[in-house]
Amino acid sequence: RKKMVKICCIGAGYVGGPTMAVIALKCPSIEVVVVDISVPRITAWNSEQLPIYEPGLDEVVEQCRGKNLFFSTNVEKHVSEADIIFVSVNTPTKTLGLGAGKAADLTYWESAARMIADVSKSDKIVVEKSTVPVKTAEAIERILTHNSKGIKFQILSNPEFLAEGTAVWDLFNPDRVLIGGRETPDGQKAIQALKKVYANWVPEERILTTNLWSAELSKLAANALLAQRISSINAMSALCEATGADVSQVSHAVGKDSRIGPKFLNASVGFGGSCFQKDILNLVYICECNGLAEVADYWKQVIKVNDYQKNRFVNRIVSSMFNTVSGKKIGVLGFAFKKDTGDTRETPAIDVCKGLLGDMARLSIYDPQVTDDQIQKDLTMNKFDWDHPVHLQPMSPIDIKQVSVVWDAYEAAKDAHGLCILTEWDEFKILDYQRIFDNMQKPAFVFDGCNVVNVGELREIGFIVYSIGKPMDPWFKDMPAMA
Ligand code: NAI
Repeated sequence: RKKMVKICCIGAGYVGGPTMAVIALKCPSIEVVVVDISVPRITAWNSEQLPIYEPGLDEVVEQCRGKNLFFSTNVEKHVSEADIIFVSVNTPTKTLGLGAGKAADLTYWESAARMIADVSKSDKIVVEKSTVPVKTAEAIERILTHNSKGIKFQILSNPEFLAEGTAVWDLFNPDRVLIGGRETPDGQKAIQALKKVYANWVPEERILTTNLWSAELSKLAANALLAQRISSINAMSALCEATGADVSQVSHAVGKDSRIGPKFLNASVGFGGSCFQKDILNLVYICECNGLAEVADYWKQVIKVNDYQKNRFVNRIVSSMFNTVSGKKIGVLGFAFKKDTGDTRETPAIDVCKGLLGDMARLSIYDPQVTDDQIQKDLTMNKFDWDHPVHLQPMSPIDIKQVSVVWDAYEAAKDAHGLCILTEWDEFKILDYQRIFDNMQKPAFVFDGCNVVNVGELREIGFIVYSIGKPMDPWFKDMPAMA
């Protein structure tokens, strides 16, 4: 009997956890162990309260944990026993040294690669699951082969295209699975071995195989193109406000064009999440390193428009509330970077809240999935100073006393002068806005950063409503200070 294939995944985060849980579920004959150096993360994966919130994930983990899915901090043991090793560690933007503010920080990746080389006693397939700069496989290959004591390693690039909030669905029904490898016989053999894993549930025609560099670059390209759509429609939203066009009508109309398509055309306060900004900065850096200044500038603009959109939103709030929010309570609905996740990495809410605190507002924040602790941490943490302007004041310790986190939308809005919606949670669509209005200071403002409220209904109630890219309330037009 052939021995059971063993998979080990290094990094039990938003990608490693759900991806491996789904592989375990779909491949009962494969043993999957997810390892991480973070003890609290692994403890949480082994508990009832998983470390990340993803619809449907609890059920998947429950079905296979303890059978063919395991979570462990014993990194070296499981790496040495595995046939296929996925590396799904974090690859944040470098904050120091060469390429700071743009280049990907591969410290975690490199230390994982060195550890693999150290503990391996048999041939391995090493799979890049993390998003990495194009050509990383070459660097990893050198680390592995120079430390390998004669063991053979094959590197594959298998970038992950899941989106947070729909991770389980995306993993069950991927648009495509991409596998890149060396164009040598051994490289092709490795590609086939990984393909066989996915073929347990993914139709053959959706499994694409390419060379290593195409696979690595495709992930950066996909994120750049997705973010670019958001910045494009957000740029249009500013023009809509200036002209009386309605951005929802515009995006509906243009999305009907089959060459454009309807998805990813919702105007908002800006994109967030751990990937878009860092991956575009990484792409920009790679372009610069290759002497492609114009290409670098083109993609940099996607991030600049995103920053512009967040600043515009803050400015709109302050200027419409008589040019000051000092001492005024503002209710904030939503803090996660999008609905159905508790992830706050790079959420526009951080920049918007910091902007309002910079003008001395008092904030009362509610998000269904984000903890008080996390919000306080995000707002006090000194965010890395990107090379693009964010125009935000540094935080002083006093400012943070101006923040309270509550567990109810009505509580957040109570006695507030204004209400900001920063995440498109479904529950914000069906709040009792009459009740909210009755308990707010007057004039009562709503600033909808995700186009979730019914503007007409809210105006009927008596709110002054600003909704991104929608025809403006006369109030805003008449505000003399508004730029
Ligand atoms: P994460 O930060 O949630 O998880 C990474 C984990 O790796 C952490 O738990 C960390 O403790 C662990 N780790 C770091 N170094 C380690 C080492 N040497 N040994 C063992 N464990 C180690 O990151 P996330 O969000 O899962 O992202 C991972 C990669 O996947 C990144 O490159 C990201 O760009 C990419 N990606 C992320 C997506 C997302 O939606 N979050 C989607 C697609 C790709």
